[in-house]
Amino acid sequence: MAIQWYPETQEFHLQNTSISYVISLLPDRSPGLAYFGRPLALEGRYSRIVRFEDRALSTHQSDLPASFCLDYAPRECPTYGRGDYRFPALELETEAGSPVILDLQYLEHRIYQGKPPLKKLPATYIESLDEAESLTLTLEDGASHLQVQLHYTLFKDHPILARRITVHNEGGQVLRIRRAYSAVLDLDTSNWDFIYFSGAWARERHTNRNPIGPGLQSIGSNRGSSSAQHNPSAILARPETTETAGEALGVLLVYSGNFSIDVELGSHGDTRLGLGINPFGFSWRLAPGESFETPEALIAYTDRGFSDLSLHFHRLLGRRLARGQWRDRERPILINNWEATYFHFDEQKLLDIAQSAKDLGIELFVLDDGWFGQRNDDTSSLGDWEANREKLPHGIEGLARRVADLGLAFGLWFEPEMVSPNSRLYREHPDWAVGSPLSKQTLGRNQLVLDMGRSEVVDYLFESISRLLSAAPISYIKWDMNRQMTEPLSSALPPDRQGEFFHRYIIGVYELYRRLTEAFPQVLFESCSAGGNRFDAGMLAFAPQAWTSDDSDAIERLAIQWGTSYFYPPSSMGAHVSAVPNHQVGRITPLWTRAGVAFFGAFGYELDPGKLSESEKVEIRAQVDFYKAWRRVFQFGDFYRLAGGPAGDANFVAWMSVSEDQSRAVVLAVQTLARPNPGFRRLPLRGLKADLQYRVQVRPAVPVKDEASVRYNEGLRRGDELLQVGLLLGGDGWNGVSRGDFASWLFTLEA
Ligand code: GLA
Repeated sequence: MAIQWYPETQEFHLQNTSISYVISLLPDRSPGLAYFGRPLALEGRYSRIVRFEDRALSTHQSDLPASFCLDYAPRECPTYGRGDYRFPALELETEAGSPVILDLQYLEHRIYQGKPPLKKLPATYIESLDEAESLTLTLEDGASHLQVQLHYTLFKDHPILARRITVHNEGGQVLRIRRAYSAVLDLDTSNWDFIYFSGAWARERHTNRNPIGPGLQSIGSNRGSSSAQHNPSAILARPETTETAGEALGVLLVYSGNFSIDVELGSHGDTRLGLGINPFGFSWRLAPGESFETPEALIAYTDRGFSDLSLHFHRLLGRRLARGQWRDRERPILINNWEATYFHFDEQKLLDIAQSAKDLGIELFVLDDGWFGQRNDDTSSLGDWEANREKLPHGIEGLARRVADLGLAFGLWFEPEMVSPNSRLYREHPDWAVGSPLSKQTLGRNQLVLDMGRSEVVDYLFESISRLLSAAPISYIKWDMNRQMTEPLSSALPPDRQGEFFHRYIIGVYELYRRLTEAFPQVLFESCSAGGNRFDAGMLAFAPQAWTSDDSDAIERLAIQWGTSYFYPPSSMGAHVSAVPNHQVGRITPLWTRAGVAFFGAFGYELDPGKLSESEKVEIRAQVDFYKAWRRVFQFGDFYRLAGGPAGDANFVAWMSVSEDQSRAVVLAVQTLARPNPGFRRLPLRGLKADLQYRVQVRPAVPVKDEASVRYNEGLRRGDELLQVGLLLGGDGWNGVSRGDFASWLFTLEA
């Protein structure tokens, strides 16, 4: 790993064993991207890669050659107003609203070991100085004295760069930032597919893949959270790129608020990709002497297909973004009472669930919504974080101790950022709600949002939650956030600063997370937002796992966990077995298929064990034992998508995880709908050691007589055969029909 500056050719070369990133100072003294891809020799001779061309209709600076037109130049921090008509990275105006036309020129740079933390925002980190090297490029606009620092960190072991910018007002007048993207990448080719992850409540992060076309395509959120609609991550890949081969560029924003990711196909075979805080409605007042930091963007390159991209993101996010005692620890198998009881429970009911869960081998009991204030439905009490003594006569403390006496850890649900109009908190502090300067506020799930940009709100929440965490043996918190925002106004901000609301809100959320995780380092936090409405890298920095989706149906989860897995590691995905008919879609799936899908995450149950038949209990006990034996592989193994996804057969999905030492692996194959007399299907595996012998065993969800998956696959098989030939599925010509829909096969491989 090295970062070099070549004064003769005016270029910076950031290089590790997987990538080179070359920045050249262009004729106007602004930095431009000369190259991003597989490593080039560490030499200063790549500035010439940048193309210059004098074309009709192009513009140029009066003191520079006509061939240097900003509209075609690859620019690291593009701005509008001097001939670049593509979307900019940075836009500012004066206090009176006049646009500031920026001419950002190289001033100085610094190359240094390591990676400094951000001031207020979460980011990837290092544990020793040699894990990363950084470059800060300082640019200055001579007229306004605005300074912009472009920060780059290259990780030694990953084909990933962390990028962000800081904006400093070194001049004498107040400026207002209207847009400050974390990173823009100008690529000198245009044959890319745009891959992104979108949906809605209960169908989050479905994978989309489309060729980019002329013009601008944008995904993002203006909802106050990163959202169920779009995830702050995307991939540009060549049309021919697959899981195992081909070029792909992955970008991810470490941010949980309003974001935007834009792709623009330029007019001369170039592509601009940019990401950052959503400029829609955003503004930030920057007084003389003040600075603004953007969130961190992670940018990766591979020429080895999507699996390679995912493996690197999983490792970086899992080990150097997630933090704390739970980062590398196996996560407990939990039971959550939400789908078992909804709001209707009392202490005895909860203890019954906990007792039967304990009998099944489950390790953690989580009490969900409905335990506080007068909360018996979703119309009241958010904000009043004290136990409802009618339901819980011994309070949370009494319940937690009784659960502990049963031999289970205890976890609790909170929705800290919210307030019900019908609550003591709202009656006492109506101005703490978002939008309170207006007479009419829009409700979402009957609730309002607290203004997390106000320090007194963060203090109140820290104190109420700390009180409970100090009094009771609570080892897990599910932190929910169940609505999207409206009337995004703060009574604590003056009129000309309301554009700062959303960003200040999310900084307040991070601040509360930081204080709680520091004060209670033993507590495992799981983030949640009506399922996956805020499943992002910003949250992952504090909560090492997140409730992936409110949709607990195994078949729906195939698409959700598939899409989520491009960037986020299995250890971050909360995944539970729930009852059938499934509460979101009414589907009836085999119990083993439900477990098979949920195993590939932070596993648990979301049902009333009292309602299980004896045979279901036997099966669940076996699932729990099985998961415990394979938990490290499921949660922390190298994850590979094998079959399915946007390019695959929608009826067949397969994925696998391999232990770090490659001695153990688990493979799941799910056949959505039963087909009569199905054809054979080879499933080549990944990540195994070619010269190891593996003992293969299969557990079909619905075994049939003389089960073909056993006949064809079980026994000792060499790694090379499993990698090149693979497992065989699709036998059982006649018998297979009797399996019914939603069959699955779980294979274990042990060297
Ligand atoms: C959200 C969560 C659910 C549950 C409910 C409780 O929808 O995603 O898991 O906690 O809130 O109200």
